[in-house]
Amino acid sequence: MSMAAVQINGIRKQYGDVVALSNINISIESGSFYTLLGPSGCGKTTLLRTIAGFHRQNSGTIVVDSKSIQDEPAHKRDVGMVFQDYAVFPHLSVEDNVAFGLKQRKVAKDEMKTRVEDALKMVQLSEFAKRMPHELSGGQQQRVGLARAIVINPTVLLMDEPLSNLDAKLRVDLRAELRKIQQRMGMTTVYVTHDQEEALAMSDTVCVMYKGIIQQAGPPFEIYNRPANRFVANFVGGNNFLKTNKHNGVAKLISGRSICSYPAGVSDSTGIVAAIRPEAISVRVSASSDEQTLSVEVNVDQISFIGREMEVHGHTSDGEVIKAVTRPDETIMSLKEGDNAFMVFARDDISLFEDSETGRRLS
Ligand SMILES: Nc1ncnc2c1ncn2[C@@H]1O[C@H](COP(=O)(O)OP(=O)(O)OP(=O)(O)O)[C@@H](O)[C@H]1O
Ligand SMILES: [Mg+2]
Repeated sequence: MSMAAVQINGIRKQYGDVVALSNINISIESGSFYTLLGPSGCGKTTLLRTIAGFHRQNSGTIVVDSKSIQDEPAHKRDVGMVFQDYAVFPHLSVEDNVAFGLKQRKVAKDEMKTRVEDALKMVQLSEFAKRMPHELSGGQQQRVGLARAIVINPTVLLMDEPLSNLDAKLRVDLRAELRKIQQRMGMTTVYVTHDQEEALAMSDTVCVMYKGIIQQAGPPFEIYNRPANRFVANFVGGNNFLKTNKHNGVAKLISGRSICSYPAGVSDSTGIVAAIRPEAISVRVSASSDEQTLSVEVNVDQISFIGREMEVHGHTSDGEVIKAVTRPDETIMSLKEGDNAFMVFARDDISLFEDSETGRRLS
């Protein structure tokens, strides 16, 4: 298996007046699993299609190893693509589906046979070679799509939400399988999803996109633990954002408690929000007296049992909404909607962001 490093420099793509991608710069290490994560319409598919050569960028370059490919037609790029909707040919058997790209490339019969067998073995479909697509489950069809992409021995494998049509259980199974196959083959992979959990679980690098702009790229741990801006802090893992008042370089919750100092250079007109992860909050019936923790009083709106954990939603007297995700304990089991309670969290668990959609991290 060949593998390649991919360098994307200053890619811009417009559809008429719509700027789908603006100045995308990405560096993908050879053999790594690189995920584009972002909400619907942020430009993920557009970027994959640009790499595959299905349309032309307005500007920018794509370098695979040391070769610029941005002007090559799609069929001359050594790129394999797996789509969301399986896109297997319904009138061809499993093995003929997988052989398709090899026939197009005029690969000799014997070699074709071996390569199809190897690819089917890789995706654990050897015994399904003679079946027709309609005789397969969704997960199996998706694996045919994968086998068809890897059999041509691509330098880069592109996958556009390949698991999104599958049920939750199968999705989790198949994502582990996909990751194993990718690692075994050492194949440079660009993967698209809007599922943050999938992205964190599978990737070497997660690249968070929003409105055609890269918000942050880094290892999953870093994306989750040090989100670079408010959008990432919210999109990956969810967060509570509490308004603050600024006073002498210190942000104060509007509930009245000082929380953190923030760096110089924040303009007077820029608001600051305090971010606290729902899982960093515990729910108590009385305020904490510990100096290192903060207690915000809320009125409980909703308590939901979500298996291992409970979700408690409440709002403050200022109308701010706070969500806690916590283990069920006696306090929570005895709480009812409409009760007053305290959302308690450690100062150390607070991050500050500028108060705008993509406001930068301040601490
Ligand atoms: N052929 C097209 N003509 C005009 N606008 C388009 C076209 N394809 C995509 N767009 C627009 O470009 C933006 C990015 O679309 P894209 O399909 O890349 O998003 P996405 O991140 O893949 O979203 P999703 O998660 O819904 O698949 C969107 O605003 C979309 O409406
Ligand atoms: Mg898409």
